[in-house]
Amino acid sequence: MMIYDYPTLYDVLFSDSWKREIEFLKTALRYYCNISGNGRIFEPACGTGRLLWRLAKMGHKVVGLDLNPNAVLFCNKRFRQHGLTESAILGDMTRFSLNDLRHKKPFDLAFNFVSSFLHLTSESAALSHLHAVADILKPNGIYLLGLHLLPQGNAVCSQEKWSVQHGSLALQSRLSRVSLDRQRRIETVEFRIKAKTPKKRYEVVDIFPLRTYSLRQFQNLLKKVNRFDILETFDFNFQDPVQLNPQIEDVVFVLKKG
Ligand SMILES: C[S@@+](CC[C@H](N)C(=O)[O-])C[C@H]1O[C@@H](n2cnc3c(N)ncnc32)[C@H](O)[C@@H]1O
Repeated sequence: MMIYDYPTLYDVLFSDSWKREIEFLKTALRYYCNISGNGRIFEPACGTGRLLWRLAKMGHKVVGLDLNPNAVLFCNKRFRQHGLTESAILGDMTRFSLNDLRHKKPFDLAFNFVSSFLHLTSESAALSHLHAVADILKPNGIYLLGLHLLPQGNAVCSQEKWSVQHGSLALQSRLSRVSLDRQRRIETVEFRIKAKTPKKRYEVVDIFPLRTYSLRQFQNLLKKVNRFDILETFDFNFQDPVQLNPQIEDVVFVLKKG
């Protein structure tokens, strides 16, 4: 089983940051897309859709796409529970069209936070994804892409731990590097979640590969795609813009379709 087969745990684990992510999305729609009302928003690799249902509740037209059936089911159930249209679709983020997303009009904005793009472990998959996103965006549409980059030299961050308490469910998680192959550009990571409720304790462990990018490698990929310009860059707190430099690790790229 993969970690993403446990959408309830995943959703709680990533529940803390939604406010600032939603604020950033609202600001991005206004500032980069000139939309003060409702927009058309797409999230590839939407997972549990923890941001999508909130955006839909605010009146935006949303669509999510994910490869994991459990995540899609969870996401659509939540849309239903909130009286919203089921808008999560099972599919691969390297291959989709407006038709697959059951949408006639192109999207104003797409977003992909928390490094989901790194799940695409080959250059061809990454290129296909970026082309597919560009194809479903309107001219000048925006793609907000959050990436954990691998800095030059000794990589600084090789482990991340955090805990969340949600009602009687307590979660402790650890994301750590198992191995790093700079030649093949593959980082293997272990994601471990310890869950505790008053009745039981259990642990979920998953090990999976991610593609690594230095800043230069990501910039080169964008050049190859030749469909997006970098408008601005932020850190994962979405506060002030950050300056790109070879040591930078966490970046949200504001990409504008050219
Ligand atoms: C870290 S989660 C992010 C979920 C969501 N974007 C969020 O912010 O909470 C990564 C997601 O990427 C999905 N995923 C991985 N490879 C994919 C692919 N090729 N196409 C679509 N989804 C994929 C996984 O199933 C998982 O739900």
